[in-house]
Amino acid sequence: MTLIFAHRGFSSLQPENTMQAFQAAYKAGADGIEIDVQLTKDGEIVVIHDEKVDRTTNGKGYVKDYLLTDLKKLDASYKFKKKIKKYRIPTLAEVFQWMTENEMICNIELKNNKIQYEFLEEKVIQLIREFHFEHRVILSSFNHYSIVHCYQIAPDIEIAPLYSNGIFMPWLYAKSINAKAIHPNVKTLNADIIQSSLNDQIQVRPYTINDPKVMEWLYSLQCSAIITDDPEKAITVKKLQ
Ligand code: G3P
Ligand code: CA
Repeated sequence: MTLIFAHRGFSSLQPENTMQAFQAAYKAGADGIEIDVQLTKDGEIVVIHDEKVDRTTNGKGYVKDYLLTDLKKLDASYKFKKKIKKYRIPTLAEVFQWMTENEMICNIELKNNKIQYEFLEEKVIQLIREFHFEHRVILSSFNHYSIVHCYQIAPDIEIAPLYSNGIFMPWLYAKSINAKAIHPNVKTLNADIIQSSLNDQIQVRPYTINDPKVMEWLYSLQCSAIITDDPEKAITVKKLQ
């Protein structure tokens, strides 16, 4: 069965990476959410995609230069496609607190491929342990050194490499770094890669799947999960399979 992960939450319906987007994903029936994390100036883990706040909020500058208290004053819905009330940038702790009320899986993307946040991996893992969410999270990153580091300090927490350009026999690569899954750009996939990975017990969770035809194709191949901006559409297409 293919699971449905809501990319930055139900981000086609609500501003990305906000509690409202995560709640909408849950309401739509998604199995999980995919979120992006960065660190503030005072070392707090916050959920936002870009290194800078400019694209999604009414603020300017780098997340790493904001204290949490100042970041919390920004409007995370300010640049959304339609005008809605003010939403806040959530912390990872707030997302985890919400997850205590449901069964959602959380794919945490460590956004440390451009900025090397000191102790990001340790901080995220410590919070996972505080909430006992070791089996409800997947740690992914385009920075493969980072997820290898996660595995070294927390081998009981699943890691998955993200990649946007093809990797030769990615299931073997995943095994070589102790990952149990790959998170590829769907453009790098074909049926052979999906089947070979699944045959080798490597789960395949591509991003970002919004086209119903591509959803159908991935469902027909028993792909492990899809990461989509529109979990409602993904569920509708799945029901028609
Ligand atoms: O985790 C899959 C996907 O989110 C990676 O790309 O740029 O949307 O974070 P991006
Ligand atoms: Ca992401």
